[in-house]
Amino acid sequence: MNRPFLDSFGRAVTYLRASVTDRCDMRCLYCMAEEMTFLPKPEILSFDELERICGAFIHNGVRRLRITGGEPLVRRDVMSFFAAMGEWLKRPRDEAHLDELTLTTNGSRLGEFAEPLYAAGVRRINVSMDSLDPERFRTITRRGKLEKTLDGIRAARKAGLKIRINTVAMAGLNDDEFDDMLAWCGQIGADLCLIETMPMGETGDDRQNRYLPLDRVRADLQRRWTLEPLTYRTGGPARYARVAETGQKIGFITPMSHNFCESCNRVRLSCTGQLYSCLGHEGASDLRGPLRAGMDDEGIIRLVQSAIRRKPKGHDFMLDRPVDDPARIARHMSVTGG
Ligand code: GTP
Ligand code: 5AD
Ligand code: SF4
Repeated sequence: MNRPFLDSFGRAVTYLRASVTDRCDMRCLYCMAEEMTFLPKPEILSFDELERICGAFIHNGVRRLRITGGEPLVRRDVMSFFAAMGEWLKRPRDEAHLDELTLTTNGSRLGEFAEPLYAAGVRRINVSMDSLDPERFRTITRRGKLEKTLDGIRAARKAGLKIRINTVAMAGLNDDEFDDMLAWCGQIGADLCLIETMPMGETGDDRQNRYLPLDRVRADLQRRWTLEPLTYRTGGPARYARVAETGQKIGFITPMSHNFCESCNRVRLSCTGQLYSCLGHEGASDLRGPLRAGMDDEGIIRLVQSAIRRKPKGHDFMLDRPVDDPARIARHMSVTGG
């Protein structure tokens, strides 16, 4: 085992988010534009390439691996990749290993894949779902079907996967539904995580007017629910509370109102092999070119080390950045999976 990756602020990178595709069967208003151009296949890392890069990270201290997209489950044969990465969960603890292999998904294909995911070693998944109303769900996802996601969630529960529902809080779209969602999550034994919308890529929606600071949402929920703050963490940015009435947890992800970058432990690998050391910056290091040119693992590790040393202190997302401001993030969330 090599030494863990450390950035110049002393933060250890122990969590990798790997996107396996930029494609998705939905077009969520805050994530993608209605018409998206997807990348040609040769641009996308093969599973062998992904396995090599992820392996290099694990040898250098990464213990949690989250598979993202786009929608990971639309990539053909993605279960073979999960099965391969799941092998790292079985490795001795005093050797390079994974503590957790997880997935963020829109749920539409969980009906087919929940059981194989569990068999590969996945125990916990985050499912994006922003409304319990079929019409609204359609409006927000532009082409998703609520029933399919609900079927997927049912299959995931049956397979034994622990579920967190991810809900992006949006004024005028789902801000009257959080009580219902909290109650529903209680019924199905899932946690709920509310997320502030982040300005990434043009999506054709007015995110500035959709933005809801979660402090306000939380204060409102607390009038009807008993939220007991928890120190429980999942390795990600959510701060959790226990909902006394349901016994489940509610999480809040507040990149806009309460920056959590000082405790950041993660980097992102895009499906084209670009290493993004921060979600909120365009700077990336290309790993695919050197890999395809025959660079060995030591060389890749050196590239990663140097990228992580340059990891910025934090994002500087602003909802009202002018269109020509170079700090505005042009890439869509679907490229790096959030
Ligand atoms: P857990 O492992 O369950 O804690 O997952 P997570 O919250 O890290 O991952 P998920 O894919 O469910 O992401 C939920 C939301 O958090 C998405 O909107 C992500 O874009 C956002 N998010 C995750 N990591 C970061 C981060 O480092 N910075 C910022 N600004 N947002 C993040
Ligand atoms: N702001 C906040 N969250 C977003 N997600 C996608 N785009 C955005 C955005 N612009 C969320 C999805 C999914 C997770 C990976 O990121 O809902 O749950
Ligand atoms: Fe697809 Fe997820 Fe983006 Fe929605 S948020 S368009 S489900 S990748």
